[in-house]
Amino acid sequence: MNISKNILLRSSRSDSVELLAFFKSCIRKQSTYVFDPVSPEALNNARPFEEIPGPKALPLIGNLHRYLPITGEYSKEKWHETQRKKFKEFGPIIREVIVPGYNMLHLYDPKDMEIVSRNEGRYPRRDFFLGMRALREENPHLCSTVGVAAGNGEDWYRIRSRSQKAMMRPQIMKTYLPQMNLIADDLIRRIRLLRQPNHQVPKFMDELFKWALESVTYILFKQRMGCLADDISPDSQAKKYIQYVNDFFRLSAKVELSSVPIWRVLPSLSPSFQQLKKVHDFFFESALQYVNARMGERQKLNEDDNELPLIELLLKYCSPRDASVMAVDAMAAGIDTTSLSVAYVLRNLAANPDCQKRLQDEVDRVLPDGKPLTVQAMEQMPYLRACVKESMRLSPTVQGTSRTLDKDIVLSGYRVPANTLITLNYYVSSVQESNFPNAKKYIPERWLRTESGAPTTPDSFAFQPFGFGPRMCIGRRIADLEMLTLLTKVMQNFWIENRSQELDINFQLVLMIKSPLRYEFHERR
Ligand code: HEM
Repeated sequence: MNISKNILLRSSRSDSVELLAFFKSCIRKQSTYVFDPVSPEALNNARPFEEIPGPKALPLIGNLHRYLPITGEYSKEKWHETQRKKFKEFGPIIREVIVPGYNMLHLYDPKDMEIVSRNEGRYPRRDFFLGMRALREENPHLCSTVGVAAGNGEDWYRIRSRSQKAMMRPQIMKTYLPQMNLIADDLIRRIRLLRQPNHQVPKFMDELFKWALESVTYILFKQRMGCLADDISPDSQAKKYIQYVNDFFRLSAKVELSSVPIWRVLPSLSPSFQQLKKVHDFFFESALQYVNARMGERQKLNEDDNELPLIELLLKYCSPRDASVMAVDAMAAGIDTTSLSVAYVLRNLAANPDCQKRLQDEVDRVLPDGKPLTVQAMEQMPYLRACVKESMRLSPTVQGTSRTLDKDIVLSGYRVPANTLITLNYYVSSVQESNFPNAKKYIPERWLRTESGAPTTPDSFAFQPFGFGPRMCIGRRIADLEMLTLLTKVMQNFWIENRSQELDINFQLVLMIKSPLRYEFHERR
């Protein structure tokens, strides 16, 4: 039997209508600019690209010397801080000659970011995860696609439009919420178990990673890995997953951000690339094994769609190999993002006790006596969502995104040629006073609705934590589900304080916290 053909035929017309509605809703919002940035008139009147301000490039080496360790004024490891520095020095639009002939354009002005987002076309192009793309391209017999996160063009559209039907469905909340509550309970229990007399939990960030790994693998496979168990044996599957996920993040960042990317020309000579390949293949093959084992089972069981693990929903629309690639992408993009975001929310709540108190009051009112979270309760907790959103604005986990357009366009009055890599830097724009009053302060109230139901702060292109348009985060609902469940539990159980002041943060595709978290977990009385 041709399994993949069979699966594809099962995709229904109503799914396509739903999907079309999603893509349309992404572009429906009214534009705030009034000219056509790609019209011949605008392009002819624009100033030349070369006039865009930016750091002066040297012959042959462009601006590479600025990124040298110790002597360089810029840093790849502190890319986020470097972007703020450039904005301060050169203003809201910057052209950076990385090496002669290769330019990057950095945007910090929400108006320009909006123009790019609205002109990204049917297949928005993002040139990122190049390492992941290369190792999948090297293995066409194993991977049928380079995947959603690394792909572009028609390949991206094909897998995105199919997997989205499974990953963005509203039902996701209801299906997995009961287990998310149990997984969050396990973390609460571990906090109590590991907590020291000073109320701190050693290596708390690692506990958050394990919680996110346990959550995302449960959603994918509907199986508990046991990452939050107290006595994980060294040869268990859970231990292997924890180790491999850590390696995956470390190696991906190393490969993507390497100053001399040997792997691009001679992949076999790059030990990091080879190790990354090994870890990637482990995850891919585990997913594929699971898929193959369940294919027969499923036909026997005839389970209700709403009860299925995510990977089997993916199989309704994708071939087993496509679904396995998507599972690896979900693990690659869905573990450090959610765990770090929770770490940042807790830090902001600790620094703002009034907000923490107001949140606890809301949680206690909607869920008295420590009741578990339900979908209905979630809808009655606008302050919880506001606390998360405000934390993402002030302390984002993802500093921005990028696009490469297939046509010339006018930005800030300059003509930007097609195929220029354009970075959209929300890390800079989301803390500008011109975009958000009291921008450096944590004020969740700014995201609540007024009594008439109108938003207090309208959504803005200065801050798009999950991106915008058809390429926005496909795991957004899953992230919401996991984070809101855990934060509710933490607020029900503890009062959080924080003893560390500054955080050391490195750009590792995400904004990774390097310093130990010294959060104190005090029992609520
Ligand atoms: C708080 C948590 C998260 C944040 C802040 C976040 C943020 C983002 C951002 C900014 C993008 C790029 C969007 C763009 O280029 O316009 C993205 C893409 C993506 N995210 Fe997330 N994400 C989170 C959680 C997750 C989770 C839980 C998953 C999976 C289970 C996931 C899977 C993905 C994938 C596969 C993409 C690539 C989508 C594409 O290119 O079509 N993310 N995310």
